[in-house]
Amino acid sequence: MTNFTLRPALETESRAIKDLIHSVGINPMGVDWKRFVVVVNAQDQVIGIGQLKPHGKEILELASIAVYPEFRGQGIARAIIEHLLKDSPRPLYLMCESVNGALYEKFGFREIPYGEMPRYFQRISKLAGVVSTLARRDERLLIMKLQ
Ligand SMILES: CC(C)(COP(=O)(O)OP(=O)(O)OC[C@H]1O[C@@H](n2cnc3c(N)ncnc32)[C@H](O)[C@@H]1OP(=O)(O)O)[C@@H](O)C(=O)NCCC(=O)NCCS
Repeated sequence: MTNFTLRPALETESRAIKDLIHSVGINPMGVDWKRFVVVVNAQDQVIGIGQLKPHGKEILELASIAVYPEFRGQGIARAIIEHLLKDSPRPLYLMCESVNGALYEKFGFREIPYGEMPRYFQRISKLAGVVSTLARRDERLLIMKLQ
């Protein structure tokens, strides 16, 4: 098991955050280090990340949850998610591929239908539908909400 610590990100970790996002292939937009928490190992290397990302004044998204493959399955994402949920206002939204839906259900998130999505997520959901149809992928984009 990895000995890990969770703390707010430092400005000097901006590059490490972007590298992890790039390496796991998740949304690279809106990646301001100030909103991030990081998990570091005993050598103080960033091995996991997450953030709460605002969209205007009303909408808050749990986003950029990622852990390097060699550190997965040890509760690092759980630690990040629980920390971010602790003091966050509700509702809280997230977007994820359907393969990760069960992970977020563990924390109380539920998939919402198109009609219940804020406009921001409706737009993305439509775009994702087109892209996945074109790419003939089995995965679908879920928009989930925590009340
Ligand atoms: C998804 C990801 C962040 C999980 O990180 P992790 O540190 O291995 O997760 P944890 O070990 O903290 O697991 C937390 C819980 O979720 C479960 N879990 C993890 N990944 C899961 C998945 N894809 N589907 C269902 N459950 C999952 C674990 O079994 C664990 O359950 P438990 O606490 O009840 O035993 C990691 O696999 C990753 O970085 N993936 C690539 C990036 C990505 O897809 N991020 C999500 C963007 S929406």
